[in-house]
Amino acid sequence: NLQVNVAAAKADIQPTMWGVFFEDINQGADGGIYAELVKNRSFEFFKPLMGWNITRKQFQEGDLIIMNRADKPANPRYLQATVKNAARGDLGLTNEGFKGMGIKNGLRYDFSVMYRQAAPGVKLYVELVDSLGKTYGGTAVDLSQAGQDWHTAKASFTANATVPKGRMRVWFEGNGVVDLDMISLFPSDTWKGRPGGMRADMIQMLADMKPGFVRFPGGCIVEGYDLDQRYQWKKTIGALEDRQLIINRWNFEFAHRPAPDYFQTFGLGFFEYFQLCEDIGAEPLPILNAGMACQFNTAELVPMEDLQPYIQDALDLVEFANGAVTTKWGAKRAELGHPEPFNLKFMGVGNENWGPQYVERLKVFTKAIKDKYPDIKLVNSSGTDPNGDRFDYLNTELRSMNADIIDEHYYRRPEWFLENARRYDNYPRTGPKVFAGEYAAQTDKVVSIHNKNSWQAALAEAAFMTGLERNADVVTMASYAPLFAHAEGWQWTPDMIWVDNLRAYGTPNYYVQQLYSLNKGNKVLPITLNKDVVAGQDSLYASAALDTKTKEVIVKVVNVSGKPQQVNLDLKGVKSLASQGKLFLLQSNDLNVVNSLEQPKNLAPVESSIAIKGKAVKMEAKPYSFSVVRVAYK
Ligand code: AHR
Repeated sequence: NLQVNVAAAKADIQPTMWGVFFEDINQGADGGIYAELVKNRSFEFFKPLMGWNITRKQFQEGDLIIMNRADKPANPRYLQATVKNAARGDLGLTNEGFKGMGIKNGLRYDFSVMYRQAAPGVKLYVELVDSLGKTYGGTAVDLSQAGQDWHTAKASFTANATVPKGRMRVWFEGNGVVDLDMISLFPSDTWKGRPGGMRADMIQMLADMKPGFVRFPGGCIVEGYDLDQRYQWKKTIGALEDRQLIINRWNFEFAHRPAPDYFQTFGLGFFEYFQLCEDIGAEPLPILNAGMACQFNTAELVPMEDLQPYIQDALDLVEFANGAVTTKWGAKRAELGHPEPFNLKFMGVGNENWGPQYVERLKVFTKAIKDKYPDIKLVNSSGTDPNGDRFDYLNTELRSMNADIIDEHYYRRPEWFLENARRYDNYPRTGPKVFAGEYAAQTDKVVSIHNKNSWQAALAEAAFMTGLERNADVVTMASYAPLFAHAEGWQWTPDMIWVDNLRAYGTPNYYVQQLYSLNKGNKVLPITLNKDVVAGQDSLYASAALDTKTKEVIVKVVNVSGKPQQVNLDLKGVKSLASQGKLFLLQSNDLNVVNSLEQPKNLAPVESSIAIKGKAVKMEAKPYSFSVVRVAYK
């Protein structure tokens, strides 16, 4: 008999409560949501021709060479082709894409290239092919502008078959010397049809969650393996050819499955992240480097006296997001097509940084940002060891600084999540709020390649999240991590959404997150079992919320045992309840069940109606189940 007191609604549940954590890990951005199909489009990877293969009918010394110009430090390399009496099929280049290119039958593909040739003479032909060289559509590309300047050529064509792992080939025809750079191919079915945009199926999965916020761009890539490889937002906006790429931090070890050709091209940059947040109604939460590289690898620090440029980046970011179009960075935003502000309210300084070095730097950041922008809420990092000394040290320091929001990360075994459902019950009710910024149950061990997105993990998270919701006066934001993984290009598991080149599916963990987010409510309600919170008694975990806008009571019940349990939800403090409510059920008798590309909805929520008599809702908490009940009240 679980008692819910609707009249005792107290704390607000913030609109930001359930959000998403995005990082370019596991091909999250390049080869993921960034829909560019060409890998190493600007020849700037370690090896200039990574991702490309040359096809020649006849060897000709120096026909394809990489040039390096001094006037373009952000993108110095380009390809120079010397073409002699070539017919289509004589000299060409094939791009392998990111684990191939997903080609869709009947879809338009948009090719573009920057080129320069003194006199017109060379033509290009672009086509899609499979691994055997069979073609699936293509077109001629007009390179007729001549002279010393660079021009952009564009050409579109329609694919005539679906090929999961296609490639793109360009053929040279004619006579002459031509310089090429930024060789690009996008599908036309991007999110909102934006040219050069994002992969719509992946973004749709985010939109379907209605997340309260998007945290970006990470994660460890904020810090970088060393400071040279840290994320610098100013290098990610404006013309694509001027966005200087860097090696992805997940290219390296600790990545478990290193990928030597994993780079951040920044085709997806801060402007696009802000736009994405706006599209899906989520608050943007950018995280900036605190003058410290990733402490798991090196402890490279910026000396205090050199910290100013880092702080300036933070100040300028607020101006970029919110400033009037008459300000320097507001004008930049307007120039990029968004004169209206993005209404940035939150910003993080540091990711998984710790020790007195972090605190020292954070204090300077905080003062500078708060002096200029007192309303921006700052997220501070408290490390990765929720029960350890490092965490205690930081929490004490951050509390004494009166931090706005403390970012806690927990990658732990499922049992930890069950044992910690009361983690915030006795947390101080005044002072900093908590952002559960990265969490995921690890079925094998932390950062093991054997971790599974199984129902066992997702169920434990669902149970733990009742504790987050119950403590929504303290915990104001939470996000599972990491978000995306490509089935052939991942470094880290478990992950919430898995994809290949053509498909995407949500794990059971995704559906847990989605159920919470879509059934958030705006006030916490007490739900008790014998006057105690429901946090593991008889293997049950529960939380309750009120949606004062729709006038519904929302109850979440998690049963982590293999036995069904009869639950009577006794709703006090209402005049009456509707005679029918809604039940969203996520359940399997098999804790090892997973979803897959082949069986994407093996485990997915099932909606049904639930009959209600009087002021009580009788329901069965099925074995290993997560139930969400919505009931209208008067
Ligand atoms: O989510 C993967 C990584 O885990 C993040 O980049 C980092 O913040 C954490 O250690």
